Amino acid sequence: MALLELKNLHVALEDGTEIVKGVDLSVDSDQVHAVMGPNGSGKSTLAYALMGHPAYVITEGQILFDGEDVTELAADERAQRGLFLAFQYPHAIPGVTVTSFLRSALNAIRKAQNDGEDDPVKIPEFRKDMLAAMDKLKVPHELARRYVNDGFSGGEKKRVEILQMAMLKPRVAVLDETDSGLDIDALKIVASGVKELVGPEMGAVLITHYQRILNYVTPDFVHVFVDGRIVEEGGPELAQRLEAEGYEAFGVNERRNGSNS
Ligand SMILES: Nc1ncnc2c1ncn2[C@@H]1O[C@H](COP(=O)(O)OP(=O)(O)O)[C@@H](O)[C@H]1O
Ligand SMILES: [Mg+2]
Repeated sequence: MALLELKNLHVALEDGTEIVKGVDLSVDSDQVHAVMGPNGSGKSTLAYALMGHPAYVITEGQILFDGEDVTELAADERAQRGLFLAFQYPHAIPGVTVTSFLRSALNAIRKAQNDGEDDPVKIPEFRKDMLAAMDKLKVPHELARRYVNDGFSGGEKKRVEILQMAMLKPRVAVLDETDSGLDIDALKIVASGVKELVGPEMGAVLITHYQRILNYVTPDFVHVFVDGRIVEEGGPELAQRLEAEGYEAFGVNERRNGSNS
């Protein structure tokens, strides 16, 4: 059994509208999966449901993590088991530095893993780990002293996101990419972070509309996601086919709104 298994997963909005209509997906460590689909196909809904966002209701099917049924678990309980979701639109947190944000996030997970007892990381140890992660991911040290996402460029936001991923050491990371607006710099940061961190300890699911990011990180598995379902699966060549033929080849009549760059 894979580390993360989705079995016939159905997800509805609070008003009952079904968005995800039966998804099967298996993700192991040392694997990069790309879930690619057009706008509005339900990619973000799938990501939120995976992480336990309360606005997305799992109406049928199961999520298994390391053999455990986590379908009913809250977001923090999933996070402490090692699921990580990079937010599509991270918010600014004025007054909170990147360092203290990362330390709080880490301490929250440590507390949960320690049966709810505080177990804060020692500051020198934390600093050492953070600086090592920054060096590994080529994040400038000065970013640590800045306020989270306050006036950050797209690339800086992504750097913090990837740094958070490195510090929390999830076992499966889910990255839901914006459907447009990520500049090449930001794409490269995400891609190289994923390449750096995926290995025997971690697998990743890259959720994306465009195949651009896949020019910088080659997925092991590609899943084409249309109208709440996986309609085709393959290796990296499937992303190339999508690039060449578009989603039309998969029966999608996408209305172009000029953002396909
Ligand atoms: N919180 C929400 N409230 C209302 N509608 C939503 C919500 N989340 C998603 N939807 C709807 O679900 C559909 C799928 O959206 P989404 O999962 O964001 O697709 P994608 O990420 O593939 O673009 C869209 O029709 C969207 O409007
Ligand atoms: Mg989305």
